[in-house]
Amino acid sequence: MYCQVKGLVFTLLLFFLLPFSCLAGSPDQGHPATDVKGPAILLVTFGTSVPSAQVAFVNIEKQVRATFPGTEIRWAYTSKIIRKKLAKNGVQIDSPETAMAKLMDDGYTKVVVQSLHMITGAEFHEIYANTKLFEQMSGGIGKVVVSYPMLTTDESMERVLQAIVADVVPKERKPGEAVVLMGHGTHHPSDAIYSALMYKLQKRDANMYIGTVEGHPTFDEVKEMLVKKGIKKAYLVPFMTVAGDHALNDMAGDEADSWKSQLSKAGIESVPVLKGLAEVDSLVALWIDNLKIAMGQVK
Ligand code: CO
Repeated sequence: MYCQVKGLVFTLLLFFLLPFSCLAGSPDQGHPATDVKGPAILLVTFGTSVPSAQVAFVNIEKQVRATFPGTEIRWAYTSKIIRKKLAKNGVQIDSPETAMAKLMDDGYTKVVVQSLHMITGAEFHEIYANTKLFEQMSGGIGKVVVSYPMLTTDESMERVLQAIVADVVPKERKPGEAVVLMGHGTHHPSDAIYSALMYKLQKRDANMYIGTVEGHPTFDEVKEMLVKKGIKKAYLVPFMTVAGDHALNDMAGDEADSWKSQLSKAGIESVPVLKGLAEVDSLVALWIDNLKIAMGQVK
């Protein structure tokens, strides 16, 4: 009898406890399970509407995929003008904010945002400010790491210049011929990095220069230096992610105010090199190295 009661109590205990123990072993249905997905990578660039410049982005994605196999990789363009232009042709590219919202909706709890820019300028800081806000949202992305662009440290500047000399400057360049890099330039304080680069370029090779479209050093400053030195031929190289609108028009275009035309007017023959820096593996490697550090911070 005692044994039967004991058995009954045990059965009842089992009956009541089993559902709770089952619940304890299964994910809490009321809250999203953490780390079910991710970390995802969001690649953010200014964007381009020039189809031939797309090869640079294809190359970046190929290398990111090879480095982080199986990882969700998405793109966002910061330029509203470019996004609208592409949308008219049926190509839908998200802004960084929309891309982050979609990642949030899709359940990603960790996101690494890679800035595919050259410097820590205005766009980088905007991306940083806006994507980090997703960490503060209820049910948002728990961890957002924004990875640095290409040029950050003194060492990164040296690596970039080394790669440009080795992999971008045409081999047929003869002594006495100049190389003029075209940087974008910005109103942002980080514009100073281009002048730091000029110093480093000149230390490495006195016939290498960098000018910018919207900042300093200006093209006029560079032109003056070339004329003063008696340079007769210069290779024009975009110091930008892609050989897009600035490279095709402001640098190598036939209009009177292009760098090519202005140099020609000053008696200097110029040879445009229409290659975006993201087409060069040794340069993409700098972004990948930053991405590796950032991915290490979300794991
Ligand atoms: Co521009």
